[in-house]
Amino acid sequence: MNVLIFENEDEISTASGSLIASQVIEKPNAVLGLATGSTALIPYKTMIRLYKEKAVSFAGVTSFNLDEYCNLDVQNENSYHSFMHANLFSHIDIRPENTHFLNGNAEDINKECKAYDDAILAAGGIDIQLLGIGSDGHIAFNEPCDHFPEGSHIVTLDARTIHDNARFFNSIEEVPTQALTMGIGSILRARKIVLIATGANKAQAVQQMVEGDITPMCPASVLRLHPNVTVMLDRAAAGALK
Ligand code: F6R
Repeated sequence: MNVLIFENEDEISTASGSLIASQVIEKPNAVLGLATGSTALIPYKTMIRLYKEKAVSFAGVTSFNLDEYCNLDVQNENSYHSFMHANLFSHIDIRPENTHFLNGNAEDINKECKAYDDAILAAGGIDIQLLGIGSDGHIAFNEPCDHFPEGSHIVTLDARTIHDNARFFNSIEEVPTQALTMGIGSILRARKIVLIATGANKAQAVQQMVEGDITPMCPASVLRLHPNVTVMLDRAAAGALK
């Protein structure tokens, strides 16, 4: 795990967005694993800038998002479909038909999850996976638990995650309590991983991920078993590292 500490979010944006864009320049039909949430906006800013500067085209790229809420219409502004459209896809030339999401409203959840994992394999696997980290150490929506789930699956969100994500909704009662998420196995199969964390509220989770036991009680700690992980932190998120 290569841990890099930056002075500010702009530096992280340039470094992370350029890393993803360079993957696409090197392999124009790259498969990107994408994330949502505040952290994801950091690389997206630079990816959009590089696209507008004509440094990179996403026309040949395929994407798979990490997760999606259950029981939330995809048209809802808080769905991860809407987030991706508003914050990345509508600003670049990625083809809508090449963007993939788990369907949190699928009737047959097991079938949906299996089909998603199969689609990632059929696309040749993920070349570079973008991750944020929850304040409870989750990656995607793999919450602390007693094992590392392999494939995509349904989860009940932790009270802490619901609390953290309530800032996007009108009230905490509106936050969906369940989501579909890629599993830890799917994430570890990505050839490269970049995880970004900013802010003091991530410091404890970052410390556990980098220096604590490798345990499903801190799902992000499993990334230490992957050969190509870059962690990009600001000083606040790195604040609890020994
Ligand atoms: C979102 C996702 C989550 C977030 C994490 C951090 O697709 O997979 O794991 O990355 O909850 O969220 P923010 O960036 O909003 O602090």
